[in-house]
Amino acid sequence: MAQTTVAKQIEALRETIRYHEHLYYVLDTPEISDAEFDALMRELQALEKQHPELVTPDSPTQRVGGKPKEGFAKVPHSRAMLSLDNVTSEEELRDWDRRVRQLAGPGEEISYVCEYKLDGLSMALRYQEASDGAARLVMGLTRGDGMVGEDVTTNVRTIRSVPLSISAAKLKKAHLPANFEVRGEVVMPLAAFQKANEEREAQGLAPAANPRNFAAGTIRTLEPNIVAQRRLDFYAYFALTPTGENLFTEQSEALDALTAAGFRVNPHREAILSFNKLMDYINRAEQDRAALGYEIDGVVIKVSSTALQQRLGYTGRAPRWAVAYKFTARAGITQVEEIRVQVGRTGKLTPVAVLTPVSIGGTTVSRATLHNADEIERLGLLIGDWVKVERGGDVIPKVVEVVDDKEHPRGHKKFQFPRHCPDCGSDIVRTEGEADYRCVNADCPARLRESLLHFASRGVMNIEGLGEAVVAQLLDRKLVRSIADLYKLDMAALLSLERIGEKTARSLLHEIEESKKAPLNRVLFGLGIRFVGERTAQLLAEEFGSMDAILSASQEELERVNEVGPKVSQSIREFFDEEKNRQLVEHLRKAGLTFTAEKRKKSSQLEGLTFVLTGTLPNLTREDAKAKIEAAGGRVSGSVSKKTSYVVAGEEAGSKLDKAHELKVPVIDEAKLLEMLE
Ligand code: IVH
Repeated sequence: MAQTTVAKQIEALRETIRYHEHLYYVLDTPEISDAEFDALMRELQALEKQHPELVTPDSPTQRVGGKPKEGFAKVPHSRAMLSLDNVTSEEELRDWDRRVRQLAGPGEEISYVCEYKLDGLSMALRYQEASDGAARLVMGLTRGDGMVGEDVTTNVRTIRSVPLSISAAKLKKAHLPANFEVRGEVVMPLAAFQKANEEREAQGLAPAANPRNFAAGTIRTLEPNIVAQRRLDFYAYFALTPTGENLFTEQSEALDALTAAGFRVNPHREAILSFNKLMDYINRAEQDRAALGYEIDGVVIKVSSTALQQRLGYTGRAPRWAVAYKFTARAGITQVEEIRVQVGRTGKLTPVAVLTPVSIGGTTVSRATLHNADEIERLGLLIGDWVKVERGGDVIPKVVEVVDDKEHPRGHKKFQFPRHCPDCGSDIVRTEGEADYRCVNADCPARLRESLLHFASRGVMNIEGLGEAVVAQLLDRKLVRSIADLYKLDMAALLSLERIGEKTARSLLHEIEESKKAPLNRVLFGLGIRFVGERTAQLLAEEFGSMDAILSASQEELERVNEVGPKVSQSIREFFDEEKNRQLVEHLRKAGLTFTAEKRKKSSQLEGLTFVLTGTLPNLTREDAKAKIEAAGGRVSGSVSKKTSYVVAGEEAGSKLDKAHELKVPVIDEAKLLEMLE
């Protein structure tokens, strides 16, 4: 095919993919299935692989690019990114509205635009005109201190609702120039937050407190592929010129233009003329809040007219033309009646406060996690204390502080952390450097119960109907003593349980049977090996291709998997070295579970090549570089000879570099090496 035809074909494919990305990630109304979308992506990837010279940075395949070198560069904002003054009551809002009307002068009709106050972090995106007239994303900047932000472009590019490029035709339709700046909010949807937190817990990490913190932390990680997995979202709310002036004469026009250009703009926006209607909007927002799928912490009210905005101007840190109506935090005050300690599937002991039920944001809360013994210490919590309980983006409420005032006298009884497992009475231990106590008994009934529930849960083996009530009965009657026993259950056994009829029993048996088809990575995840979360299980399955290969892998071999370090590999080894677990695996094999997976194809792009490393590379340690080269089939040698294919030179490279020049061995830098590895 002639080069120009291929180029056209590639560009057409990209436009199609952009169209479907917009439908999927911005409008939530896909027209094609995920499989069809993936097929388009693969087609583009294949074409780009054949024609690497045609790859452009704004191609949909290029969202995850190279890592930022070291840290993020500081870049000044085109115009200060200010915050907003808050009001928290109708009276305060009325005062604000009155002031605006006064400053505007008599006879000025005021139109407000009401928007949700998204609970994330603000971000400025800069677009620049490319040779074909399209607008290309060239920079993503955090708010920083308001004057100077951090350049997080590589991470922002991975957010699927951020267009990497907007065609000239689309810009024209949206009445947008090709050089402009968008400001808006990066948020983490609740579903993504919960999933990422589950993953953290599976890895033994403390869960993040709320989606905003998680989003902010994510945007500042140095691993774009992690950012890509976290599924952040971007909502646009300002359109500015490159020097920070408003692009439109009305805020409502700006929002429409951004929508037309393909940005995600929050649909719950309204133009409002009267004060009463403002209050209606706020009340509706507060009611709808719980069902949104992302967090908002209030409503932002903006004067729509840019001209009036200018006349109203700014106080020191905030505009006079906008205000945030903040919702009251979703917190409540109640009393701690008791502290119980729960045993998780890894044996971890978690103290939980049993509370006098209290309604918080429409939900009755009667328990809150206290995380661990240190946390109880930190709070200074006594049984009988009144406490402030917050319900964040997560479902699990938490105790944030002890209330101590006239109406709320202190409790009296100090909580004694148990010395033995509350379930089986075995010893508990606390490993040096860890906050948690664990039950040492591998056969602890509580552990077995939690293991079964984990194994059966959605996202693991998906055995619908195997919930707490059924599991409790199965354990009580000793019908199940290990995960493998689930596969021995029959009709008679299930019918012997209370509240289980023939129909339920048959459907449960069907679900159990179906679970045998779950892929190896799910089985691995389901075993509940400490530190092996969903993702690690997936990587292990891809790398080793079978349960047996993992079973017999040494710690060293396990660590060849990206993201598996000594802590994880040791935990895997310990798990499989235990006789009981080996038996469990054998029983699962006999039951017919999936024990093989498709192995990721071994890369061999550096097959037959010999590399010598010298000097300090900007990102990779010497070990990293060696591992990557070897994983791709190459060899690393310590000295330069005529047989050396490449010398990879970093900062302060020494005599090896001279030798390379002398022998005319090609010298490359880290970037080039990474390119060869792709
Ligand atoms: S307007 C000068 N609109 O709230 C104008 N901000 O407290 C300031 N926020 O830093 C921004 N949703 O991170 C605006 N629809 C919205 C918003 C919003 C969330 C955040 C933003 C800002 C903070 C101000």
